[in-house]
Amino acid sequence: MDKFFIIGNKNLNGKVFISGSKNAALPILFMSILTKETIKIKNVPNLTDINIALKLLKYLGATIKNEKILFINSDSINNFSPPLYLIKKIRASIWLLAPLLARFGKAKIFFPGGCKIGKRPIDLHINNLIKLGAKIHVKNNCINASIKGRFKGKYILMKKISVGATITIIAAATLAEGTTIIENAAKEPEIVDIANFLNKLGAKIIGAGSNKIFIKGVLKLRGGRHRIIPDRIETGTFLVAAAASKGNITCYNTEPKHLQSVLIKLIEAGAKIRTGKDWIQLDMKKRPNSVNLCTAPYPGFPTDMQAQFALLNTISKGIGSITDNIFENRFHYVSELINMGAKIKIQKNTIMCYGIPILSSANVVCMDLRASATLVLAGCISTGTTIVNNIQHLIRGYESFHIKLNRLGADIKII
Ligand code: EPZ
Repeated sequence: MDKFFIIGNKNLNGKVFISGSKNAALPILFMSILTKETIKIKNVPNLTDINIALKLLKYLGATIKNEKILFINSDSINNFSPPLYLIKKIRASIWLLAPLLARFGKAKIFFPGGCKIGKRPIDLHINNLIKLGAKIHVKNNCINASIKGRFKGKYILMKKISVGATITIIAAATLAEGTTIIENAAKEPEIVDIANFLNKLGAKIIGAGSNKIFIKGVLKLRGGRHRIIPDRIETGTFLVAAAASKGNITCYNTEPKHLQSVLIKLIEAGAKIRTGKDWIQLDMKKRPNSVNLCTAPYPGFPTDMQAQFALLNTISKGIGSITDNIFENRFHYVSELINMGAKIKIQKNTIMCYGIPILSSANVVCMDLRASATLVLAGCISTGTTIVNNIQHLIRGYESFHIKLNRLGADIKII
């Protein structure tokens, strides 16, 4: 498996152009199943997770043309049971279920894969599809689902805020008979992007981005075009790269309002932040101050940024605590940072970081997507040369990450 060879002690400065959002693009690709007509999507990031999603669609029979712009036509789908080896690679596979049921009335989907950051159950997806009229039984981690006719719109109170399950319900409700109301819905910008995309195809969705979403079912959707929103987590990751390396970085093609909670914490850490319509500049002249944070559903602090802030805290002045209230097992990277000299204690779903002036290089191993990015940044700012192993986790969710970092002054080679 590929690994990175990283020469440390770098200040990262300059411009970085942010790619399209992985977590908006993945569900939107699968939503294409809801229409017989062609859709045209721009700003789709070039990631292994995206390539797996396209392989799944092709396996089902969809036609795909993927040059600079992505064209998908799902009219020719004639298979409803994608193979385990593809399904298991990404969490997003679960978003095949609702569209296949809504368009074709049947689906046989194995439990999805994805980062090992907790149990990651799918009960909220399944129970709510049953509520909307699907017949589902699960055997040997395989979901056998069918529905006679259309989903029936319902009032749904989410017992827990879930991005994935909110998306599944939107997909089922779009072509349902009657209106569906989702109470306690997730409010992430990716949900708003999905609703905007489906409304361009003729769906009737209002309230996305709030905790109450109304979806008036329609008989069918037309084709259309859409540009994926910028990736707010990639943006946050580069801003932490600037803050941790006492650098000055401007992120272009991004959306400042999608990561307010992250910007607030970066300012608290001592960074100077300037923003414009589609850019954010971070300048950090001195060693950061430690910050305390708790992850929460949007617009709270994103769980996908907690590992990056743990790195920032390890080289900051003082003691910083980070609590992850979303996933119960998302601290795998802590042992790797401790190998690099970090002083971190884990107490249940909280870590305490005791800041030291600089990390030392080590041979570290990636276990999940955001942890991988964090270890690469750690290698860029530590003394000596760091080897980062298992970088296949990284390329799932960051487009040309080491190339973008090298353009900012890093020295990263693939070996
Ligand atoms: C999405 O995961 C994102 N993944 C995650 O990003 C992100 O961290 C997460 O939302 C934030 O909530 C994609 O978009 C592909 P959830 P998802 O359903 O949908 C529990 C990254 O690094 N839950 O919002 O799986 C769950 O265990 C990835 O890009 C249930 O109990 O997350 C968790 O505790 C990592 N039952 C909480 O809800 C369910 O049926 C929030 O999960 C579903 C979820």
